[in-house]
Amino acid sequence: MKRPVGILTGGGDCPGLNAVIRAVVRRAGLEQVPVLGIKRGWDGLRDGDFAPLTRSSVAGILTRGGTILGTSRTNPLADADALNLIKKNFDESEMQGLIVVGGNGTLAAAREMFHRHKMPVVGVPKTIDNDLRGTDMTFGFDTAVSIATDAIDRLHTTAESHDRVMILEVMGRMVGWIAATAGIAGGADIVLVPEKPFKMSEIIKLIEGRRKRKLTFSIIVVAEAARPDDSEDFLSDETKTMLYNERNLGGIGRQLAREIEKRTDIETRVTVLGYTQRGGSPTPYDRVLATRYGIGAMELVLTEQWGQMVAMHGQKMTKVSLDLATEGPKELDPDLYRAAEIFFG
Ligand code: F6P
Repeated sequence: MKRPVGILTGGGDCPGLNAVIRAVVRRAGLEQVPVLGIKRGWDGLRDGDFAPLTRSSVAGILTRGGTILGTSRTNPLADADALNLIKKNFDESEMQGLIVVGGNGTLAAAREMFHRHKMPVVGVPKTIDNDLRGTDMTFGFDTAVSIATDAIDRLHTTAESHDRVMILEVMGRMVGWIAATAGIAGGADIVLVPEKPFKMSEIIKLIEGRRKRKLTFSIIVVAEAARPDDSEDFLSDETKTMLYNERNLGGIGRQLAREIEKRTDIETRVTVLGYTQRGGSPTPYDRVLATRYGIGAMELVLTEQWGQMVAMHGQKMTKVSLDLATEGPKELDPDLYRAAEIFFG
């Protein structure tokens, strides 16, 4: 009997997690390697809460959102007692390696477990935000963009019928990948991202410019961590603390609407897309990407390439070190933002 490989999913849920789990189990099955599914991220390893995943237990999950394993944002290094339990349970289970599917937080923890505690880990880049370095694309991003684009399409009807400014606030944590990509795809008139602090005077100029051209509505896409430029700050310190709390971002859309109504006579409405962006079934692109990541991760395990993360460069599946992947959030490509800007106003 070969030694099992463990798999856990950490951080926010994300479309495609189940596709990764299924692919790992199927690829491992070809080598008769058993797979242990660890429940609720690192918590399950701490509590010894894991069970075998089999071909039949992962049947039919490819198209399902969320994660059949559950997830948590627990940092395994935050508590010495928990860390000891994690190491003990890992050793006693005789796992040959651990596949960690997560975003920046979860994979940074995996990196530390590898370096400081010699745990044989392999990472899989998961996040709707697309903010992991070393890979062109994380799975979940395409689904989030498609949901946000659909929302922009739908907001257009109300915007046009009521001559309103419609603001769509999207997720993305500290980066603007979802906002810029969905903004281009949905034909947004203004896109605001954290990488480029905005000036209210310029936003008003764009809206007024559209009015002069008899375009009586505007669509603004704003990323949850977008903020005003220091030269034209209109938010109090208290509001900023509330909006830019990394554990629970959101609210800039409403502030923006208030400011637009103060400075123009145009009715302005806000839609906060929230968790719908990471809910439901993954797009075909994400199903394929997640499947390829799962296979790639299992192949890194089979070749004992610990401390690595599967990555996508162009159309090629490859790997990068977890050190590189977690060096800091991958900011929005300025070229992509320039493409969005061409269509402003
Ligand atoms: O990182 C994914 C993400 O959905 C972000 O876009 C968002 O800011 C955050 O997670 C929300 O996290 P939580 O599920 O903890 O509210």
